[in-house]
Amino acid sequence: IKTIGILTSGGDAPGMNAAIRAVVRKSIANGVKVKGIKKGYQGLLNEEIIDLERNSVSDIIQRGGTILGTARCVEFKTQEGQEKGAQICRKHGIDGLVVIGGDGSYRGAQDLARKGINTIGIPGTIDLDITCTDYTIGFDTAVNTAMQAIDKVRDTSSSHERCSIIEVMGRNAGYIALWCGVANGAEDILLPEKYDYNEQRIINNIINNRKRGKTHHIIINAEGIGHSTSMARRIEAATGIETRATILGYMQRGGSPTCKDRFYASIMGSYAADILCEGKSNRVVGYQKGEFRDFDIEEALAMQKGIPDYQYEVSRALSM
Ligand code: F6P
Repeated sequence: IKTIGILTSGGDAPGMNAAIRAVVRKSIANGVKVKGIKKGYQGLLNEEIIDLERNSVSDIIQRGGTILGTARCVEFKTQEGQEKGAQICRKHGIDGLVVIGGDGSYRGAQDLARKGINTIGIPGTIDLDITCTDYTIGFDTAVNTAMQAIDKVRDTSSSHERCSIIEVMGRNAGYIALWCGVANGAEDILLPEKYDYNEQRIINNIINNRKRGKTHHIIINAEGIGHSTSMARRIEAATGIETRATILGYMQRGGSPTCKDRFYASIMGSYAADILCEGKSNRVVGYQKGEFRDFDIEEALAMQKGIPDYQYEVSRALSM
C-alpha cells in the first residue's frame, strides 16, 4: 500500500476526528501517504480529495463532528457509481481506503474492495447497532449528552408534577434508550426490540406511581418507536396528568467526545491503518470480549446482536 484514503460516511459521531487523526498518523508512521476524501462517497465521486499530513490533524482530537464532512450517497449504491469511485481512487493513487461509518458505509467499502481497492471499515455511529462490535465510536458521548439533558427535563417535570416522554435517537436500535433509561432512573423504557405497544400498561404504571406519591414519571422512548407527541396527548387524556414530549434530536450527535470515545477511536484508527498496510482488505475493525479484532465485512454484516436479556430485565426491575 502506497497511499491510504480516508472518508467518513453516514451520520457523524463524536470521536470520528480522533479516528481520522489516528489513521493519518499511524499510516505516516508506517511510511504510507494519506489523502482525505471529503463528504463521504459523494465527495469521492466529486473528487473532493486533499492531502493529509501529520499537522493536518493537529488540534482535532477534542472536536465533535468530522473535519472531513460526511454525507449519505445514493449514487454510490449503483454499479456505475462504484466503478467511478474505484477509478477516481486509482487516478489519485489511492490503493487502500479506510471508511468510518455504519453498516451502510461498509457495503460501499465492500463494493470498492470487489473493484480492487483495499478497504477497511471502522464502526462510527452513535447508535451502537453494528453487530460485529460491542463498541461503536460516538455512542459513549451521545449517551452522556442525552443523560445530562434528561436529568434537566426531570427537574422541571418533577417541579410541575408532570409526566415526560423523552425521545432519544438510535434509528431502529434501542441501545441509547436502554442506557439512558437505566442511567436516568426512568419509570418506563420503550425499546423497539422489546416494546409490546401496550399503552394501557404504561398508563396504569403512571396512575399507580402517582398514587404512591411519585411527583414525576419519565418515559424514555426510542426513535425506532417514535410518535412521542401523539403518545403524550393520549397519556394525558387517559391519566389526567399533564404530559409533555421532548425529542432530543441532533444535539445527541454533537459535542466534544468523551475520553472513552477518543481512546477507542485512536486504537481502532491505528488498527485499521496497520492491517491495511499489512495488505488486508474487505475487513471491519471491531471490539469484542475485551479485544480489538477484525472481521470479513460479509461475515460482520451477517452477524446478529440485540438487547442483552439480562440488561433488559434489570432495566425493568429497577424502574418499578
Ligand atoms: O445513525 C445515527 C442517526 O443519528 C440515527 O440515530 C438517526 O436515526 C439518523 O442518524 C438520522 O439521520 P439523518 O442525519 O440523515 O437525519
